Amino acid sequence: MSQTNQRPPTPRGLPLLGNTIDFVRDPLGFVRESVADTGDVFRMQLLGKDVYILAHPEYVETALLDRDTFVKLDDFKIAFGDALLSVHGDQWQRQRHAMEEFFSPARIAEHAETMTSVAAARIADWGNEEHIQIDQLMQAIALENLFEVVLGHSVSEPQLTELVETANTLNLWFKPSSWALPEWLPTPARRRFQRGSAEFRSIAQTLLSDGETKDADESLLARLAALRDAPDSEFTESEVLDQVVGMVFAGHETTALTMAYALHQIGSHPTVAERVYAELDAVIDGQPTPADLRQLEYLDQVLNETFRLYTRRTRASTPTHRGRG
Ligand code: HEM
Repeated sequence: MSQTNQRPPTPRGLPLLGNTIDFVRDPLGFVRESVADTGDVFRMQLLGKDVYILAHPEYVETALLDRDTFVKLDDFKIAFGDALLSVHGDQWQRQRHAMEEFFSPARIAEHAETMTSVAAARIADWGNEEHIQIDQLMQAIALENLFEVVLGHSVSEPQLTELVETANTLNLWFKPSSWALPEWLPTPARRRFQRGSAEFRSIAQTLLSDGETKDADESLLARLAALRDAPDSEFTESEVLDQVVGMVFAGHETTALTMAYALHQIGSHPTVAERVYAELDAVIDGQPTPADLRQLEYLDQVLNETFRLYTRRTRASTPTHRGRG
């Protein structure tokens, strides 16, 4: 089989600025149009930087699975330091090994009661409201759960409002208008990101030093603190704090958006809604348990379809690679 060094095509742009202006003005629109014009893989030129867009599930799968060829963006390291989501190589393996037990199905099941209580309390708050801002509600549920489970810490209502605002700043490092610019340039979005990140580090620092997280089984933060304190530990305090910011970034919006989009889909398809409710009625008796989840097959399909609709395109389509290499 012959190997070629073809580079993916680049959408038409301006001299020197390349695709910068079109991308910054409307990132999603630009990518959508470029996929239509150029194909499922293309190279954007942003102020002298080459950025590759992979818009087909096969390419995305390769990029996620082939860890030797595709390493994580430097931006993750700049934004989140030594968090699991930004490190690679031996450090990734060490961290992943230390933390993966916490994410095992058995461990997650131990937190099920906390998670259902958080959701039940929020749902009770809906009362008789006719209109609910579903994305905000799901964000509150996701963030409250992250705090309970990852940090082992309950949050009050006013704290939660503040935390939601702060958590929203963690995406700002990746704001397209900043993306095209060099990392050292302190754009307003990056400054807000820095403040949000410092806030989460400071919360985690307080919880660590308060000794509120003594039982290593209780939360991920407690486990990390125990690892830091172990003899010959390779975990530094700063690495532990980086994990907290990284987890809030990786864990809250992903979950909140999945739930919000799934509810949107259920709400817009009455026959689907009927089947979901019928299945819930048949399976759940009182508080839902992890064992119930395995029986909620139709709900599982709805969630998978939500992922397919909002995070990737159908597997049935084949990659297209038009234009010059
Ligand atoms: C529906 C919800 C979620 C989706 C769709 C999602 C999606 C993803 C994806 C696509 C990756 C990249 C995988 C890779 O690089 O191989 C990832 C990594 C990661 N996610 Fe999630 N995630 C979700 C929820 C969460 C939650 C709740 C947490 C934490 C409590 C979390 C923490 C992480 C971490 C730490 C990584 C980096 C893992 C590593 O590099 O080893 N995610 N997630």
